[in-house]
Amino acid sequence: MANNEGLWRRKPLAAFSIKENPLHRTLNARDLTVLGIGAIIGAGIFVLTGIAAAKYAGPAIVLSFVMAGAACAMAALCYSELAAMLPVSGSAYSYAYATMGELLAWVIGWDLILEYALASSTVAIGWSGYLNSFLEGLGLRLPKGLTTAYLADAEGGFVNLPAMLIILLLTGLLISGIRQSAFFNNAMVWLKLAVIVVFILAAGGQVQADNWANFMPFGFSGVLTGAGVIFFAYIGFDAVSTAAQEAINPEKDVPVGIIASLVICTVIYITVAAVLTGVVSYTELNVAAPIALAIDRIGMAWLSPFIKLGAIAGLTSVMLVMLLGQSRIFFAMAKDGLLPPLFARVHPEWRTPYLSTAIVGVAVALLAGFMPIEKLGELVSIGTLFAFAVVCGGVWVLRARHPELPRRFRCPAMPFTPLAGILICLWLMSGLPKDTWVRLVVWLLLGFVIYFGYGVRHSRLN
Ligand code: ALA
Repeated sequence: MANNEGLWRRKPLAAFSIKENPLHRTLNARDLTVLGIGAIIGAGIFVLTGIAAAKYAGPAIVLSFVMAGAACAMAALCYSELAAMLPVSGSAYSYAYATMGELLAWVIGWDLILEYALASSTVAIGWSGYLNSFLEGLGLRLPKGLTTAYLADAEGGFVNLPAMLIILLLTGLLISGIRQSAFFNNAMVWLKLAVIVVFILAAGGQVQADNWANFMPFGFSGVLTGAGVIFFAYIGFDAVSTAAQEAINPEKDVPVGIIASLVICTVIYITVAAVLTGVVSYTELNVAAPIALAIDRIGMAWLSPFIKLGAIAGLTSVMLVMLLGQSRIFFAMAKDGLLPPLFARVHPEWRTPYLSTAIVGVAVALLAGFMPIEKLGELVSIGTLFAFAVVCGGVWVLRARHPELPRRFRCPAMPFTPLAGILICLWLMSGLPKDTWVRLVVWLLLGFVIYFGYGVRHSRLN
């Protein structure tokens, strides 16, 4: 069998050109950059940084951020090259379809559910935690049975209602139109950036070098583990590529959006991590709201509610962009026939894939309402790392197979960049717990059942 047949059949590159685009092309480079920042800055910096510093890296969490950022940079460069060549909705899924064949494309599309849908659920649970803490600050306490899932806490827990409601609200917003969603996202992003800048300015002058004296208390291996944990904080820059079909000038603006959002967030993360560990000893940072703790420490407790509001805004935009990404990936998969056509149905007036968005929203809301937050994060990380590795491989394959094709953006230092990207992703994956690997394998097996039961027969390539 030639390697472009059967399960290895690839979608011809010509089939990626979009003559009649049912989606609305309204996003420019700035919108896409803000979209990226919207998806990136969230639970990672507002929640995980403190825990990672306290348990694994100490003040050297700064180095963990540099390392995880470098790994993402490789993947971002590869994403950019492919996004400029194939400016369609499906992101990594579509890139795999063009380069490595239908079966692997399906595997990646299915795997991306772990990144986008599960990250939305994870972040919704974190969002509910911040909301409760904010409301408690105002003297309002919601009953535990309505803010905690039974599986998270059998004593008094039942459903996480705020987590469900925020997902359903954002789903409604996404259905109503891409322009409204981008506008709302912009507002949330400016709010969270404002809070972070206020934190850096307020706390930056109060850093005590003593707190950095024991810079690497857990050795280099702690820095590595820390990098694996805070990798979650970087997830999201790739979401820019899922909106390619809604960009005015995708070949140029999507790479700009991906790279600019990643660079901006990396600088912010490193600065925040340095200030945080400089203000509070890393030994005390094992808390759910480390930035609010640092603000209390410098005697500015009155700023705390504002910081919490910023975190709530930050987490909101992460959910918004992740939900957007998930519905666009399903849209692309349904267009290719691998999922039922209802996922590709576009609303005549709003021009959004409304059914796909609604189905994703309800499923994510149920997960957020009834599942515990632990382990979800690790599953998000392993799924994302896997997708990044495949995208890096895809750039390489396409360069080898079609060196002649025009590329508006070229990934530098070939083949070093994709190779380094693949190795770093595999290496970060290897550090994740065994049960996370088992869940990934079970998830992929379930995907095979669906592909062989439906997709392989309904594929447009038949
Ligand atoms: N990077 C996103 C966050 O930290 C997923 O919430």
